[in-house]
This record gives sequence, structure tokens and C-alpha cells, in this order.
Amino acid sequence: MQVGETGSVTGIDMTDELLAVSRAHIDAYTKQLGYKQPNLKFVSGYIEFLEKAGIAANSLDLIISNCVVNLSPNKEQVLRSAFNALKEGGEMHFSDVYSDRKIPDATRKHKVLYGECISGALYINDFIHLCKKVGFEDPRVLIKTPITIGNPELQDLLGETKFYSITMRLFKLKNLEMKCEDYGQVAIYKGTLPGNKHSYILDDHHKFEANKPALVCGNTASMLGETWLKKHFTIIGDRNVHYGEFDCSNSKAVATASSSSSSSSDDCCAGDSACSAGGCSSGVCC
Ligand SMILES: C[S@@+](CC[C@H](N)C(=O)[O-])C[C@H]1O[C@@H](n2cnc3c(N)ncnc32)[C@H](O)[C@@H]1O
Repeated sequence: MQVGETGSVTGIDMTDELLAVSRAHIDAYTKQLGYKQPNLKFVSGYIEFLEKAGIAANSLDLIISNCVVNLSPNKEQVLRSAFNALKEGGEMHFSDVYSDRKIPDATRKHKVLYGECISGALYINDFIHLCKKVGFEDPRVLIKTPITIGNPELQDLLGETKFYSITMRLFKLKNLEMKCEDYGQVAIYKGTLPGNKHSYILDDHHKFEANKPALVCGNTASMLGETWLKKHFTIIGDRNVHYGEFDCSNSKAVATASSSSSSSSDDCCAGDSACSAGGCSSGVCC
């Protein structure tokens, strides 16, 4: 629905069972949307190798994923493949489980913990390192929610390790720098995103009130001014004059599980804020 009738959505999964269930709903969904032709298809493949699954390089505006990256033994390849498939200015928007420390191999191999998407979790700093390594230079956290392990035996195996469900946004933008830099740029949200009339939350420390000018770092200016978001923001200034490092800690911490205007991504493709803007025309969902 979010990509409109002229856009398209491709779902990918490695199991025939899941693909069969998904494909069985295409016609009903197309009818429900009132479209003449389906704009939705499902392909068999691995998220580590999107191109092999027929998804061309530089072809996607948006990739959404929920609880799949966590299951992959090769998270670097997942990120590399996503980076390759996105267009310049495209975004990977996804939820997954992360830990606050590296998980020992023995715990990682525990079948129940793995199946529950727990022990496959990557230490968050290792994950951020991988993002940067493949080109997602400035990964942004949108929502971070602690996960409670209900079972005392499993909790015992995990010790003091804490787990979080984190929704991240990874923008593919050539202009992103390693650190937040101050070029004196200002962003003004126009209040034009559907469902976000009064404010827009970019990440857990950037909330833009409609029509209120806000100083932003160069990276944030690029995320708002060089992606699908650009028609909803006015960016004043460029990178011609540098005023040193930008102190992002001054930005308000905003997104929590309950306060974010974005979906939790649990409802894959159905309510994603990135998509609901109508700014993207092609996406992948896994
Ligand atoms: C926890 S489910 C999540 C499904 C869906 N994203 C959702 O939110 O309901 C995990 C799915 O990921 C698929 N999967 C796991 N690893 C994969 C990989 N490397 N490539 C493609 N699909 C994978 C499994 O077949 C399974 O259908």
C-alpha cells in the first residue's frame, strides 16, 4: 500500500513453506488495495545474497526486515548485500535482537536460545562496526527496548548478558562522515508526513517539531535532505564552512518503545514509517 500502485514490493525468504503462505495472499491483497495488477512478489533466496535472488544492485529505496538478520551466521554479508541492493539515498530499516556483550560460543549454539532469536544476537558494538565496514557509515538507533527472558533456566545460561530489541536505520549515502560534524546547517520539518503532522522522529535523539528550525550535523542534514525525506524538510546551509565537531548529545533523546511515531517493524511492511511517507517506490521485506 505504501509504495502505491506504481511502486513494487518484493518479499524474500529461504523457506518454501513461508513463500507458499505469502504467495497465497497476493491476489486477496491486490484486490483489497483495489489495484489492477499485483505489485507484490515473493522470491526464494538468502538475505546474504539478494542479487542472486534476482534483486538488482542499486535498485531499492527501502529494505525492511524483522528478526532475520539475527538468524544469519554471516551478518557482514547481510549488510554488504543490502548496501549493494539499495539506491543512493535508500534506507535499511529493521528490528533485531542485540546483546550488551559478546556471547560465548557454547551459549550461541544452544538450540532453544537460537530458535528464540536470542543467542544469535550480536554484541551491539560489533554490529555497528560491521555497518560502518560495509559503508553504512552512520547507523542510527530508532527504538531500543529491553528483552526479558521469562524462563529462569535460560536466564541462568545467559548470566548477566542483557538483550535488546533495536530498530535501526541505515542510510546509504556517500556524504556520511565518521563523526557528526558542524557546518552550521539547519533543518526545518514541514509537517507533511502522513501521521506526523506535529513532529517527526528520525532516531532516538532527533525529534523535529513542525516548522521549528533545528541545528543539525552534516550527516543528519544529508539523511533529511538527500533521501526520500527531502520533500518533507527544508535544509538551510551546506558544507562549505566547518565549525568543528557537532555535539549530538544536545539533541533530545526521543524514541522509546512507547513514544516513537514509527512502527516497531514487527508488522513487516504494514505500518512502517519509512514506507508510509509514500516516498519509496521499491522495497524488499524479509
Ligand atoms: C523469525 S522469522 C521472521 C519472519 C518475518 N520477517 C516476520 O517478521 O514475521 C524468520 C524467517 O527468516 C527466514 N530466514 C532465516 N534466515 C534467512 C536467510 N539467511 N535468508 C532468507 N531468509 C531467512 C526463515 O525462513 C523465517 O521465515
